[in-house]
Amino acid sequence: MEKHKVVVTRKIPEQALEKLKEHSEVYIWNYEEKPMPYELLTEQLKDASGLYTNVGDQIDKALLDQAPYLKVISTMAVGFDNIDVKEAARRGIAVGHTPGVLTETTADLTFALLMAAARRVVESSDYVREGHWKSWGPMLMTGQDIYGATIGIIGMGRIGEGVARRAAGFNMNILYHNRSRRFELEKELKASYCSMEELITTADFVVLLAPGSAQTRHMIGEKQFKQMKPNAVFINTSRGTNVDEKALYEALKTKEIWAAGLDVFEEEPIAESHPLLKLPNVTVLPHIGSASVATRTKMALIAAENLIAGLENQELLFKVNSK
Ligand code: GLV
Repeated sequence: MEKHKVVVTRKIPEQALEKLKEHSEVYIWNYEEKPMPYELLTEQLKDASGLYTNVGDQIDKALLDQAPYLKVISTMAVGFDNIDVKEAARRGIAVGHTPGVLTETTADLTFALLMAAARRVVESSDYVREGHWKSWGPMLMTGQDIYGATIGIIGMGRIGEGVARRAAGFNMNILYHNRSRRFELEKELKASYCSMEELITTADFVVLLAPGSAQTRHMIGEKQFKQMKPNAVFINTSRGTNVDEKALYEALKTKEIWAAGLDVFEEEPIAESHPLLKLPNVTVLPHIGSASVATRTKMALIAAENLIAGLENQELLFKVNSK
């Protein structure tokens, strides 16, 4: 039997690649650092049945128009805002993702970013490395306390819950806003549900974990930053498009808020010349929320299994809800 052709848009862990090769003919863009060019992807998809995609690939209608044999798209991510899921559904193309396995790893990173931004960890490290440290100072690199402070989590899904559990360990007062109430969690962690406005005006730490979509685009902008406390630390490990970066820049520059920790950006990779990178009170990371060796390996394997299931007309392990 002739094997299906599968296109893989990035270098992926060997185990996952081997799995795919058992079931299909694989074309792989075998680079860690550079994404597969859109034109090449379009070309390669002309006779492909499967697409193994990654964060940053743009899987839109124009691309799908030129992929007549495509049966399944599998992304090695939980988020799928880069895929036109409606167009895929219209064509009967299954879409898979990798929720669950990355929850704790991403919650770890979110908390690490929160602590780094609050206590100026990266800024302090640079200060030492760059030779500025001449003496101990009573107010040198003073930051914000985490233990016992109020955290406001926007988006109480799996990762939000993971962050809330970590916050409980730091004796934080936990506020959250979500599409639905999490009554069990409220009881267990003494978390309080509140409106966006209440959360934003009250929290010392505002942590954004809402999925990226047309509805959540710029959900945090000038109005919200103006409402935050002057000591507020804003953390985003969801999607950069959820935040109006210009407004964030102004809020940080004018000290309307204290600091920000960002793992995601409106444009990724963020340009080296971006004004946000000039500010000392911003801690930035290159979209590494789920990037532990173990978790990325698990994600790669699940994405491979999703893809193979789709090729064989079976239910995907984790199928994207196309609503
Ligand atoms: C990463 O951002 C993911 O969605 O898994």
